[in-house]
Amino acid sequence: MTTSQTTLRSIALAQPATIRVFERFHLDYCCGGNRPLAEACAQKGISADDVLAALAQATAAPEPAGDFTQAAPSELIRHIVSTHHAYVRSELPRLLPMAARCATKHGPAHPEVVQIERQLRQLGDELLNHLTKEEIILFPYIEALEKFHNGDGPAPHACFPTVESPVQMMLTEHEAAGALLKEMRAATNNFAPPADACPTLVGLYDGIDAFERDLHRHIHLENNLLFPLAVALEKQLVVAH
Ligand SMILES: [Fe+2]
Ligand SMILES: [Fe+2]
Repeated sequence: MTTSQTTLRSIALAQPATIRVFERFHLDYCCGGNRPLAEACAQKGISADDVLAALAQATAAPEPAGDFTQAAPSELIRHIVSTHHAYVRSELPRLLPMAARCATKHGPAHPEVVQIERQLRQLGDELLNHLTKEEIILFPYIEALEKFHNGDGPAPHACFPTVESPVQMMLTEHEAAGALLKEMRAATNNFAPPADACPTLVGLYDGIDAFERDLHRHIHLENNLLFPLAVALEKQLVVAH
Protein backbone atom coordinates (compact mmCIF):
# COMPACT_ATOMS: atom_id res chain seq x y z
CA MET A 1 0.00 0.00 0.00
CA THR A 2 1.26 3.47 -0.87
CA THR A 3 1.76 5.87 2.04
CA SER A 4 3.57 9.17 2.43
CA GLN A 5 6.58 7.13 3.61
CA THR A 6 6.84 5.08 0.39
CA THR A 7 9.64 6.21 -1.93
CA LEU A 8 8.71 7.81 -5.24
CA ARG A 9 10.90 5.35 -7.07
CA SER A 10 9.16 2.28 -5.62
CA ILE A 11 5.70 3.75 -6.29
CA ALA A 12 6.67 4.42 -9.93
CA LEU A 13 8.16 0.95 -10.37
CA ALA A 14 5.17 -0.86 -8.82
CA GLN A 15 2.52 1.19 -10.62
CA PRO A 16 3.89 3.00 -13.70
CA ALA A 17 0.55 4.77 -14.22
CA THR A 18 1.55 6.94 -11.25
CA ILE A 19 4.33 8.52 -13.34
CA ARG A 20 1.77 10.86 -14.91
CA VAL A 21 1.03 12.21 -11.42
CA PHE A 22 4.70 12.71 -10.57
CA GLU A 23 5.17 14.58 -13.83
CA ARG A 24 2.17 16.79 -13.10
CA PHE A 25 3.58 17.73 -9.69
CA HIS A 26 7.18 17.95 -11.03
CA LEU A 27 8.39 15.28 -8.60
CA ASP A 28 11.52 13.33 -9.57
CA TYR A 29 10.61 9.64 -9.45
CA CYS A 30 13.64 8.42 -11.41
CA CYS A 31 17.28 9.13 -10.55
CA GLY A 32 16.37 11.31 -7.55
CA GLY A 33 13.36 9.23 -6.56
CA ASN A 34 14.89 7.26 -3.73
CA ARG A 35 13.17 9.23 -0.96
CA PRO A 36 9.78 9.14 0.74
CA LEU A 37 6.87 10.96 -0.85
CA ALA A 38 6.40 13.14 2.27
CA GLU A 39 9.98 14.39 2.09
CA ALA A 40 9.82 15.16 -1.64
CA CYS A 41 6.51 17.00 -1.22
CA ALA A 42 7.76 19.00 1.77
CA GLN A 43 10.75 20.15 -0.25
CA LYS A 44 8.47 21.33 -3.06
CA GLY A 45 6.00 22.92 -0.66
CA ILE A 46 3.10 20.77 -1.89
CA SER A 47 0.64 18.68 0.08
CA ALA A 48 1.48 14.96 0.27
CA ASP A 49 -2.24 14.26 0.76
CA ASP A 50 -3.04 15.92 -2.58
CA VAL A 51 -0.41 13.81 -4.29
CA LEU A 52 -1.64 10.62 -2.56
CA ALA A 53 -5.21 11.39 -3.71
CA ALA A 54 -4.02 11.93 -7.29
CA LEU A 55 -2.00 8.68 -7.13
CA ALA A 56 -5.08 6.76 -5.98
CA GLN A 57 -7.09 8.23 -8.83
CA ALA A 58 -4.40 7.38 -11.40
CA THR A 59 -4.37 3.73 -10.37
CA ALA A 60 -8.16 3.28 -10.02
CA ALA A 61 -9.84 0.97 -12.53
CA PRO A 62 -10.65 2.80 -15.75
CA GLU A 63 -14.24 3.63 -16.65
CA PRO A 64 -15.71 0.87 -18.80
CA ALA A 65 -15.89 1.88 -22.45
CA GLY A 66 -19.39 2.84 -23.54
CA ASP A 67 -21.47 0.82 -25.93
CA PHE A 68 -21.40 2.54 -29.29
CA THR A 69 -23.00 -0.19 -31.38
CA GLN A 70 -26.20 1.88 -31.79
CA ALA A 71 -24.50 5.29 -31.93
CA ALA A 72 -25.02 7.74 -34.78
CA PRO A 73 -21.88 8.58 -36.81
CA SER A 74 -21.67 12.10 -35.34
CA GLU A 75 -21.82 10.69 -31.81
CA LEU A 76 -19.06 8.21 -32.62
CA ILE A 77 -16.94 10.98 -34.13
CA ARG A 78 -17.38 13.17 -31.05
CA HIS A 79 -16.32 10.30 -28.81
CA ILE A 80 -13.37 9.25 -31.02
CA VAL A 81 -11.99 12.79 -31.24
CA SER A 82 -12.51 13.78 -27.60
CA THR A 83 -11.28 10.46 -26.15
CA HIS A 84 -8.87 8.73 -28.51
CA HIS A 85 -7.47 11.57 -30.62
CA ALA A 86 -7.03 13.62 -27.43
CA TYR A 87 -5.22 10.67 -25.82
CA VAL A 88 -2.76 10.34 -28.73
CA ARG A 89 -2.09 14.08 -28.59
CA SER A 90 -1.50 14.13 -24.84
CA GLU A 91 0.52 10.90 -24.58
CA LEU A 92 3.00 11.46 -27.42
CA PRO A 93 4.57 14.62 -25.93
CA ARG A 94 4.88 12.72 -22.64
CA LEU A 95 6.31 9.47 -24.05
CA LEU A 96 8.69 10.85 -26.71
CA PRO A 97 11.00 12.73 -24.29
CA MET A 98 10.99 9.67 -21.99
CA ALA A 99 12.03 7.52 -24.99
CA ALA A 100 14.82 9.95 -25.91
CA ARG A 101 16.20 9.90 -22.36
CA CYS A 102 15.99 6.09 -22.19
CA ALA A 103 17.69 5.62 -25.59
CA THR A 104 20.66 7.69 -24.38
CA LYS A 105 20.88 6.04 -20.99
CA HIS A 106 20.02 2.41 -21.81
CA GLY A 107 20.87 2.26 -25.55
CA PRO A 108 24.48 1.09 -25.06
CA ALA A 109 23.45 -1.97 -23.01
CA HIS A 110 20.01 -2.49 -24.59
CA PRO A 111 20.01 -1.55 -28.29
CA GLU A 112 16.29 -2.33 -28.58
CA VAL A 113 15.59 0.84 -26.57
CA VAL A 114 17.11 2.87 -29.43
CA GLN A 115 14.84 1.03 -31.87
CA ILE A 116 11.82 1.79 -29.64
CA GLU A 117 12.67 5.48 -29.62
CA ARG A 118 12.98 5.59 -33.43
CA GLN A 119 9.79 3.60 -34.02
CA LEU A 120 7.81 5.63 -31.47
CA ARG A 121 8.84 8.83 -33.29
CA GLN A 122 7.80 7.31 -36.61
CA LEU A 123 4.49 6.14 -35.14
CA GLY A 124 3.88 9.59 -33.65
CA ASP A 125 4.57 11.43 -36.92
CA GLU A 126 2.36 9.08 -38.91
CA LEU A 127 -0.47 9.08 -36.39
CA LEU A 128 -0.62 12.85 -35.99
CA ASN A 129 -0.90 13.18 -39.78
CA HIS A 130 -3.56 10.51 -39.79
CA LEU A 131 -5.68 12.24 -37.12
CA THR A 132 -5.51 15.51 -39.04
CA LYS A 133 -6.76 13.85 -42.24
CA GLU A 134 -9.66 12.30 -40.34
CA GLU A 135 -10.60 15.54 -38.60
CA ILE A 136 -10.24 17.82 -41.62
CA ILE A 137 -11.45 15.67 -44.51
CA LEU A 138 -13.17 12.42 -43.63
CA PHE A 139 -15.10 13.16 -40.41
CA PRO A 140 -16.67 16.45 -41.62
CA TYR A 141 -17.83 14.65 -44.77
CA ILE A 142 -19.41 11.86 -42.70
CA GLU A 143 -21.14 14.44 -40.47
CA ALA A 144 -22.49 16.20 -43.57
CA LEU A 145 -23.74 12.85 -44.93
CA GLU A 146 -25.60 12.24 -41.68
CA LYS A 147 -27.13 15.74 -41.71
CA PHE A 148 -28.29 15.27 -45.29
CA HIS A 149 -29.71 11.86 -44.42
CA ASN A 150 -31.67 13.49 -41.55
CA GLY A 151 -33.02 16.19 -43.86
CA ASP A 152 -30.94 18.72 -41.99
CA GLY A 153 -28.54 19.93 -44.69
CA PRO A 154 -27.57 19.85 -48.38
CA ALA A 155 -26.05 16.83 -50.13
CA PRO A 156 -22.35 16.99 -49.28
CA HIS A 157 -19.72 17.53 -51.95
CA ALA A 158 -16.51 15.57 -51.68
CA CYS A 159 -13.02 15.88 -53.09
CA PHE A 160 -12.96 12.09 -53.62
CA PRO A 161 -15.08 9.84 -55.87
CA THR A 162 -16.68 7.90 -52.99
CA VAL A 163 -16.10 7.79 -49.24
CA GLU A 164 -14.54 4.39 -49.75
CA SER A 165 -11.31 5.95 -51.03
CA PRO A 166 -10.41 7.94 -47.87
CA VAL A 167 -11.73 5.04 -45.78
CA GLN A 168 -9.38 2.67 -47.60
CA MET A 169 -6.49 5.05 -46.96
CA MET A 170 -7.35 5.21 -43.24
CA LEU A 171 -7.58 1.39 -43.04
CA THR A 172 -4.11 1.09 -44.59
CA GLU A 173 -2.71 3.63 -42.12
CA HIS A 174 -4.33 1.79 -39.20
CA GLU A 175 -2.61 -1.39 -40.33
CA ALA A 176 0.75 0.36 -40.55
CA ALA A 177 0.39 1.77 -37.01
CA GLY A 178 -0.64 -1.63 -35.67
CA ALA A 179 2.32 -3.29 -37.41
CA LEU A 180 4.81 -0.78 -35.92
CA LEU A 181 3.48 -1.43 -32.42
CA LYS A 182 3.66 -5.17 -33.02
CA GLU A 183 7.34 -4.83 -33.96
CA MET A 184 7.99 -2.77 -30.82
CA ARG A 185 6.20 -5.37 -28.72
CA ALA A 186 8.27 -8.18 -30.26
CA ALA A 187 11.57 -6.30 -29.77
CA THR A 188 10.88 -5.83 -26.05
CA ASN A 189 9.36 -9.21 -25.22
CA ASN A 190 5.90 -7.67 -24.71
CA PHE A 191 7.24 -4.41 -23.25
CA ALA A 192 9.05 -6.18 -20.42
CA PRO A 193 11.74 -3.77 -19.16
CA PRO A 194 15.22 -5.22 -18.55
CA ALA A 195 16.18 -5.98 -14.94
CA ASP A 196 18.41 -2.89 -14.72
CA ALA A 197 15.76 -0.51 -16.13
CA CYS A 198 15.27 2.83 -14.40
CA PRO A 199 11.71 3.92 -13.49
CA THR A 200 11.56 6.06 -16.64
CA LEU A 201 12.07 3.02 -18.87
CA VAL A 202 9.53 1.02 -16.86
CA GLY A 203 7.11 3.93 -17.28
CA LEU A 204 7.88 4.26 -20.99
CA TYR A 205 7.12 0.58 -21.71
CA ASP A 206 3.98 0.74 -19.58
CA GLY A 207 2.95 3.91 -21.43
CA ILE A 208 3.48 2.38 -24.90
CA ASP A 209 1.60 -0.74 -23.82
CA ALA A 210 -1.38 1.43 -22.74
CA PHE A 211 -1.03 3.49 -25.92
CA GLU A 212 -1.39 0.32 -28.00
CA ARG A 213 -4.49 -0.77 -26.05
CA ASP A 214 -6.11 2.62 -26.59
CA LEU A 215 -5.19 2.55 -30.28
CA HIS A 216 -6.86 -0.85 -30.67
CA ARG A 217 -10.11 0.46 -29.17
CA HIS A 218 -9.86 3.59 -31.32
CA ILE A 219 -9.29 1.61 -34.52
CA HIS A 220 -12.09 -0.80 -33.64
CA LEU A 221 -14.58 2.10 -33.41
CA GLU A 222 -13.49 3.46 -36.79
CA ASN A 223 -12.98 0.24 -38.79
CA ASN A 224 -15.93 -1.71 -37.43
CA LEU A 225 -18.53 0.93 -36.61
CA LEU A 226 -17.93 4.39 -38.08
CA PHE A 227 -16.57 3.55 -41.54
CA PRO A 228 -19.24 0.94 -42.41
CA LEU A 229 -21.92 3.45 -41.31
CA ALA A 230 -20.38 6.11 -43.57
CA VAL A 231 -20.27 3.78 -46.56
CA ALA A 232 -23.93 2.77 -45.97
CA LEU A 233 -25.05 6.42 -45.63
CA GLU A 234 -23.32 7.36 -48.88
CA LYS A 235 -24.95 4.46 -50.73
CA GLN A 236 -28.35 5.82 -49.67
CA LEU A 237 -27.33 9.25 -50.95
CA VAL A 238 -26.50 7.78 -54.37
CA VAL A 239 -29.85 5.97 -54.46
CA ALA A 240 -31.67 9.21 -53.50
CA HIS A 241 -30.16 11.05 -56.48
FE1 LIG B 1 -9.03 8.29 -35.44
FE1 LIG C 1 -8.06 6.38 -37.73
